[in-house]
Parts: sequence; structure tokens; C-alpha cells
Amino acid sequence: MTKLSEMLQETTQFIQSQGVETVEFGMILGSGLGELADEIEDAIVIPYDQIPFFPTSTVVGHAGQLVYGTLSGKKVLAMQGRFHFYEGHSMQTVTYPVRVMAALGAHSVIVTNACGGVNESFVPGDLMLITDHINFTGQNPLIGPNDETMGPRFPDMSEAYTTTYRRVAKEAATKLGLTLKEGVYMGYSGPTYETPAEIRMSRVMGADAVGMSTVPEVIVAAHNGLKVLGISCITNLAAGMQANLNHEEVVETTERVKQSFKSLIKETLTSL
Ligand code: HPA
Repeated sequence: MTKLSEMLQETTQFIQSQGVETVEFGMILGSGLGELADEIEDAIVIPYDQIPFFPTSTVVGHAGQLVYGTLSGKKVLAMQGRFHFYEGHSMQTVTYPVRVMAALGAHSVIVTNACGGVNESFVPGDLMLITDHINFTGQNPLIGPNDETMGPRFPDMSEAYTTTYRRVAKEAATKLGLTLKEGVYMGYSGPTYETPAEIRMSRVMGADAVGMSTVPEVIVAAHNGLKVLGISCITNLAAGMQANLNHEEVVETTERVKQSFKSLIKETLTSL
């Protein structure tokens, strides 16, 4: 048994001892978007600081707990707050919860984030379906020995964001009368926001949005063979496209659009 699988066994045993049973969908709720977990029925809440091998989350707007239960008729295990590379966690730690979701039986993960809009047609408050990503973190959570029981040495990333799930999300948006933009998410390490020059480069490279999360988790989801739905909230225009950037604006925008965000995820989940 590898070190990783031993750790996973301990973590999953603990989580199951708290009453968590079947998990269908893992959910990672980004900055300001954690409120969706409050709608989970028959909820079991497990603070991160009780979970073996979980670090504690520190960023404003992140609660730091797992919430398990039923949402839109599906068994979900949601992270209210995630771990970021810029907090000093290793890429393996950042992505450990995705391994845990897979070990608990999840077949899919719904990944959400707050990010900056690079595409000039985007405005703050837009929701964006992630069609693909660019890993610009300079890191990869799969560097190191490969555990073949988890996934292949060289995972295919051709369809990291599951095509059928994207179609379902678009149908859900239409049904709700919501505008859902689509685009490529470019992941930086942070914690600095990008410079205007970096944003011009990102646009030339094909990015529609930039952020400091999601990419590592989706890489590990792909490695584990999980299906992925990614939804971004464009909380601000990226550097050089508006006066200045700050975390308060990020939280304010998520606050403003959280109803639409929650409806979209719930409606999509109903049909997945
Ligand atoms: N850049 C990177 N991450 C972000 C941004 C941004 O503009 N907004 C919210 N998260």
C-alpha cells in the first residue's frame, strides 16, 4: 500500500464514522460561493480541523468544513472553502480532498471559483462555464511517483471538463433564463493578482478568465477518472481592465450573484 492510499484510508474511515455514506458528487465551493452548502438537506458537517490529513483553511470567505447530504436529489459532499497553493500548501495537499471524494465513491466533481474576466465581453457578475483550462501555475500535483491504483502516469486532459455536463449546465441556464458565458480558465499560483501585461499575455494565449485555484483539483480529478463540471463567477475585470483589484470586490460580487449561482448548480445537478 502506498503512503497516499494509507492516508486516504484513514481519512475516509474518519469521514464515514461521522455518518457519511454514498457520495455521488464532490463539490468544491470557491470564495463567497460556500452558501450553497447551507441548502444541503439532512446535512452532516465536518470541520476540516477534525479530519485526518486536512489542513485548515484561512482565506476570508471560506468556512473550512465538509458538508454532506442531499442536494437536488443527489448525494453530495461539499467543501465549504478550499485549499490554495498560495497559502503554502503543497499541490498534493491542495488536491487531497479530490482524492478523498474519489475514495468515498464520487464519480463526479463540481468545481467553482471566483475569477477575473479577461474576455472583453465579460462583466463582473457573469457566470462562466469552464470549457477548458490552461495550467499556468508552473506546478502540477501529479509530479512525483505515480500511484497506478489512482490513475495513469500520463493522464489525458482532452476532455477534462466533461462535454455532457457542459451541455446539461447550458440547458439548465436556458431553463432558468440565466446568461451563462463560456470560456477557458487560466490558473495562476497567486497570491498577487496578475499584472496588466500578464493579462494581455493571457488573452493572447486564449484565456477568458484568470484565477488562483481549480486547475490543480481538475488535474487530480482527471487522474482519478472523475467527471468534472466547472463554473466560474467573474467577480471583477482582470488587471488593467478596471481601476484596481481587491478581495472585497470579489466577495461583494459573489454576494450579488449567489442566488443565480446557487440556482444554476442546483438545476444542473438535478439533470446530471
Ligand atoms: N485574478 C486572479 N484571481 C482572481 C481574480 C483575478 O482577477 N478575481 C478573483 N480571483
